[in-house]
Amino acid sequence: MRKIGIIMNGVTGRMGTNQHLGRSIASICKQGGLELKDKSVVMPDPVLLGRNAAKLQKLAQAWGIERWSTSLAECLAHNDNMIYFDAQSTLLRAESVKAALKAGKHVYCEKPLAGSLKESLELARLAGQAGVKNGVVQDKLFLPGLLKLKQVIDRGFLGKVLSIRGEFGYWVFEGPMPPAQRPSWNYRKDDGGGIILDMFPHWQYVLENLFGRVTAVSCIARTTIPQRVDESGKVYACTADDAAYATFELAGGAIAHINSSWVTRVNRKELLELHVDGTEGSAVAGLRECKIQPRVATPKAVWNPDIPNPIDFVDGWQTVPTTVVEDNAFKIQWEMFLRHVLEDAPFPHGFLEAAKGVQLAEAGLESWAQRRWVELPEMSLI
Ligand SMILES: NC(=O)c1ccc[n+]([C@@H]2O[C@H](COP(=O)([O-])OP(=O)(O)OC[C@H]3O[C@@H](n4cnc5c(N)ncnc54)[C@H](O)[C@@H]3O)[C@@H](O)[C@H]2O)c1
Repeated sequence: MRKIGIIMNGVTGRMGTNQHLGRSIASICKQGGLELKDKSVVMPDPVLLGRNAAKLQKLAQAWGIERWSTSLAECLAHNDNMIYFDAQSTLLRAESVKAALKAGKHVYCEKPLAGSLKESLELARLAGQAGVKNGVVQDKLFLPGLLKLKQVIDRGFLGKVLSIRGEFGYWVFEGPMPPAQRPSWNYRKDDGGGIILDMFPHWQYVLENLFGRVTAVSCIARTTIPQRVDESGKVYACTADDAAYATFELAGGAIAHINSSWVTRVNRKELLELHVDGTEGSAVAGLRECKIQPRVATPKAVWNPDIPNPIDFVDGWQTVPTTVVEDNAFKIQWEMFLRHVLEDAPFPHGFLEAAKGVQLAEAGLESWAQRRWVELPEMSLI
């Protein structure tokens, strides 16, 4: 069986370990590898890369993986390692990706591609010049709930989409007790933190792929919690935004408003909910579920606070059933990228697409700083 060497940098982190190693690469190995169109099977052969030998060794042991290393240069020098993958904290990514491109590796990485649009475009240019396959995680597109929503849209059920309302977030504990469930760099601007840089890349590809290109943004944000406790129990000052309230104008005229917050308590079924209203119907999608209400089954609401509400509005929605085997969103995209590298299958999530996400994050930050709408020009490398 053919093996494909994959350098996994930043694999001891939250995303690296859980989503990319555990739920994707190890899971592909466990299912017996990836079967290609010509019926041949390819087996991922990961090398776990990081700074801390003890952590890497422990992780490799836990997952039954033979190869680990603390040297990027050594991993890159190995010809069998065809793919470089990066899930390091955001600001560390560009330099390692550049080294991988220079070594002629195909590159796949976490979002955001880089800390700035300028750097993201530079990486896109370099990847183009190197002639290698490149891709960035756009996992939300492969969530069961959003796949159902896409099906609802593509069947024309909603008619003309008028507006999208998104609620994302949950309470991230300040520490020490309970300890924070996100890394402390997320709350420090100089380390690449902030909810705008973290979440707007997701909103960009979700909105563009489901509804239309984002043409303008108006955003206001806050650093709500001034101090938190880090992984070592030390108090630190929060310098990055932890809540952002943004309105997006889309090509085609629809308006999207999305609240992103690490300082909100959840009173909805899922941590992300998108409510979409169209002329012919509406949909509410979460990570796994999607509910719909057609125009012909829309109750006639009448404002009258003097009597108990005669209509159960929540009850009047239908659930889109699950009709396919639901796989992990990260794994689906990993398999797509491997097929892209190995048999030239399409992969519409390259560096230039990812740069659009960083463009939207920068525009959001600019809108907040200058208290105004910011337009987003269409992007190309020319
Ligand atoms: N797709 C998604 O839904 C999603 C969700 C969360 C985070 N992310 C992205 O994944 C990336 C990692 O986030 P995370 O939450 O796993 O962070 P994390 O802090 O848990 O992991 C970061 C990794 O980078 C390494 N690292 C940190 N500082 C380093 C240094 N100075 N030198 C070398 N390595 C260093 C750490 O050892 C660790 O392996 C970020 O870019 C983040 O934006 C994506």
